[in-house]
Amino acid sequence: MEDFERRIQELREQLNEHNRRYYVDNSPSISDYDYDMLMNELIALEKEHPETVTPDSPTRRVGSDLSGDPSSREFRQLPHRYPMLSLGNTYNLGEVNDFIERVAKASDKPLEFCCELKFDGTAICLTYRKGRLVQALTRGDGIIGDEVLRNVRKIAGIPAVLHGENIPDEFEIRGEIYMPYKSFDALCLEREEEGEAPFANPRNAASGSLKLLDAEEVGRRGLECTLYHMLGENLGFETHDRALLAAKEWGLPVSEHRTICRGIDDIDAFINFWDTERKRLPFPTDGVVIKVNDLATQKELGFTSKTPRWAVAYKFKAEQACTEVLGIDYQVGRTGAVTPVANLAPVPLSGTMVKRATLHNAEQMEALDIRIGDWVYVEKGGEIIPKITSVELSRRPLLSTRPDFPKVCPDCGTPLVRQEDQAKWFCPNILGCPTQVKETLIHFLSRKAMNVLAGDATVSQMYDLGLVRRSADFYDLKYTDLYRLEGWKEKSCERFLQSLQKSRSVTFDHVLFALGIRNVGETTAKMLARHYQNIDALSAATAEELQEVGDIGGIIAGSIREFFDEPRNKSNIERLKAAGLQFSMADDRPADNILEGKAIVITGTYSISRDEMKALIEAHGGKPTSSISAKTAFVLAGENPGPEKVKKAEELGVKMISEEELYAMIGTVPFDAGNKELTLF
Ligand code: IVH
Repeated sequence: MEDFERRIQELREQLNEHNRRYYVDNSPSISDYDYDMLMNELIALEKEHPETVTPDSPTRRVGSDLSGDPSSREFRQLPHRYPMLSLGNTYNLGEVNDFIERVAKASDKPLEFCCELKFDGTAICLTYRKGRLVQALTRGDGIIGDEVLRNVRKIAGIPAVLHGENIPDEFEIRGEIYMPYKSFDALCLEREEEGEAPFANPRNAASGSLKLLDAEEVGRRGLECTLYHMLGENLGFETHDRALLAAKEWGLPVSEHRTICRGIDDIDAFINFWDTERKRLPFPTDGVVIKVNDLATQKELGFTSKTPRWAVAYKFKAEQACTEVLGIDYQVGRTGAVTPVANLAPVPLSGTMVKRATLHNAEQMEALDIRIGDWVYVEKGGEIIPKITSVELSRRPLLSTRPDFPKVCPDCGTPLVRQEDQAKWFCPNILGCPTQVKETLIHFLSRKAMNVLAGDATVSQMYDLGLVRRSADFYDLKYTDLYRLEGWKEKSCERFLQSLQKSRSVTFDHVLFALGIRNVGETTAKMLARHYQNIDALSAATAEELQEVGDIGGIIAGSIREFFDEPRNKSNIERLKAAGLQFSMADDRPADNILEGKAIVITGTYSISRDEMKALIEAHGGKPTSSISAKTAFVLAGENPGPEKVKKAEELGVKMISEEELYAMIGTVPFDAGNKELTLF
């Protein structure tokens, strides 16, 4: 094999791997810039050796965000009506100029470009039929996408119904679902408190959130959407800008930050303006997009297999700052993982003061060869979490020494351990290390676990007063114990005890998550609970058997076994059982007849017609009715429900549920005027 062939093969493998990390795992390991440089190298090599090009080269197809293999798909996958492509990227104005010249050659009309912000989120394709939102697909592999309508319905600002004039019978509108910094910061804090791995940046958080199976949680994540590309047959617009103006009038979220430019000078000014100004925006952007405004010219220019010839993205370089390392802290987390964190001389970067940056693990520290007193370059990976990218060796103090990664836990002094294939060092004193025990107790009560109302500081105080050591101790707490907490009076004690009482009905999957088994997050806990149905079956499973469940591998199976083999965990579980917690799944009725025999009153308007709603209810065994009586199972309240019905329901104490709640109940979302349905999970 020739050298160039070897390099081409290597680059393709690397790029495919980075695509998977970026689009599927939402956890990229290199910056966008480094990725683009690898891609450029491959493009150049393929240009030099066209005989090597294959249709599946990463230069020819878009990276795929499709989730799961066909047997374990979490979302129904549907074809795109029009392929959903990517954009050509550039980091320099010269290439933007080349783009303008290519466009000029293809068209006689005066050139007009619509310059927009490049939102840094995850692409979405919405279909509106008769003014109603009927489908939402991710980009997927560009040909088929994941159907995420149920989640999209929970995102503020995406209208279910459009209002206005001349709304086409059917059209698609594409855009970006993104996470504003405020939501991202809140999510990071929450995840940190709950001991979950943080998202690297708002983009990953947005695409990870859009693919959650719990639509309510999607709604809580504070996602937003901006739309930037309308498609359909005979829509009647001459320019891209006009189409977006109309979309805005119909109630769709369209960014106002766009300008019509007539040449490279205007475009240059737009880029320069936003390269600075974007730092003030409350959401992440990573460049600008320059599009041919005239739709007929767009059509003439067409597409390559991967990108439109009528648009190009100019990407901003990530901002960097140089600052001094004042010291390094070693933090112990809930799972005992020890993370080195650099304390920095405060330095402004992308709108915030950076004072700390994670060093991830011992290997990363070694790779950087970082020392206290060093001057380092800090970057926000995806613009928010600061990371140290390199050391400015020319400014290294003469007598610097390499920091030693601690050999013992900074909290309890237990020697740290590291498993062969893991990057992190751990304190193995899970049940004795104060930080780990406190964090485990905090995790146990947290919202997605037992959902008991108690702040971290309270739990910490309970621990310090010796009131709790294991989670089962919470259920033995008495008024007299709680009165010892600072500022706690009758009301606070009562509220806490009531909340504890409520937690006895928390479902098994959440209880399992609450136990805080190392490497068992929310999704794994759900999967295990569904598979084993109860704790006894789960605790009896061997490591080999566990690895046959979903995508559980050796590491997770090992931590589950380790957890159940520890007698102190066993006795804690026995005490929790005695306290009345749920350690088995409730009867799981099949989704098909979940409404069996239920009289359901429908009122108001839905995103589908009333007849379709009736058919849907019937298909799941329910009986749609119009008058409320004591026999009514629930009232399905659409938009503008009849006031009389609402009143009657309240009088009779009949539950009211929303359209979304019904879809959650039956596990499907209708998407067509007919009776076709999408199975979402
Ligand atoms: S237009 C045919 N406009 O960037 C492609 N894309 O890196 C039309 N993006 O896949 C896309 N902001 O997800 C367009 N104002 C904007 C955009 C934008 C962000 C995303 C989009 C695209 C990706 C390419």
